[in-house]
Amino acid sequence: MKIVSEITEVRNQIKAWRQEGCTVGLVPTMGYLHEGHLSLIDRARENHKVVVSIFVNPMQFGPTEDLASYPRDLQRDAKLCEEHGVDLIFHPNPEEMYDKNFCSYVDMGVLTEELCGLSRPVHFRGVCTVVTKLFNIVTPDRAYFGQKDAQQLAIIKRMVKDLNMPLEIVGCPIVREEDGLAKSSRNTYLSKEERKAALVLSRAVFLGEKMVRDGERDCSKVLDAMTKEIAKEPLAKIDYVKMVDLLTMQQIEKIETGVLAAMAVYIGNTRLIDNFLISVS
Ligand code: PAF
Repeated sequence: MKIVSEITEVRNQIKAWRQEGCTVGLVPTMGYLHEGHLSLIDRARENHKVVVSIFVNPMQFGPTEDLASYPRDLQRDAKLCEEHGVDLIFHPNPEEMYDKNFCSYVDMGVLTEELCGLSRPVHFRGVCTVVTKLFNIVTPDRAYFGQKDAQQLAIIKRMVKDLNMPLEIVGCPIVREEDGLAKSSRNTYLSKEERKAALVLSRAVFLGEKMVRDGERDCSKVLDAMTKEIAKEPLAKIDYVKMVDLLTMQQIEKIETGVLAAMAVYIGNTRLIDNFLISVS
């Protein structure tokens, strides 16, 4: 496994693999890998070669967010990548990705304005811009994203379609701890007490999901039950709990074909997200 930090090194490697007729899968990450990322890497091994990018992208963090404290450990990440059969890690520094005159952005409309976009107004512009750059640098056949970031996944799928990007986006299921908490690099911020309190997210997700599976189609009833469940936990503060159409990210009142129920909840100072996605017929 190679670890490179320069764009030209990635391009040279990809060119060599292409000459051998290899397909390439890309797993974009911000590092501090957990089982969620590893499940994406394992899936990406359906390609001949797997590239993992590790880059804490400053552009997707707001001025008061956790860019400086975001956990980083390249050595640990490299070991995990090696164990999971990764061929190349691309670990650029911010200057390699954004030179001092950088001024081009990939911005999206309506999809980015709901859910996380409301409380993180610059976030998706940063995500779309960096992901586009990574796609242009690595030119993968397929790229892999987790369903935990459901809005990000929907936005990237839309961007690839709208801008005719020649690759397939593969969405992979949420990976949870044994007790239900969705895996996230930000879980490392939680104290012991907060870690216990954080289980309220998955409890609310499982409750809402069961109601929909049992036939409830009125979103306000499902949201009410989920919100009440979260309110039982004194350390939890809701940012949002919403049910939206998966394609438009706009709120819906009745479930007709399918729904994304998504939430962001602060546990102490840590903002966690979780969701469920259901198609009904
Ligand atoms: O999901 C993430 O870790 C990031 O948003 C991504 C896709 C790697 C872009 O920086």
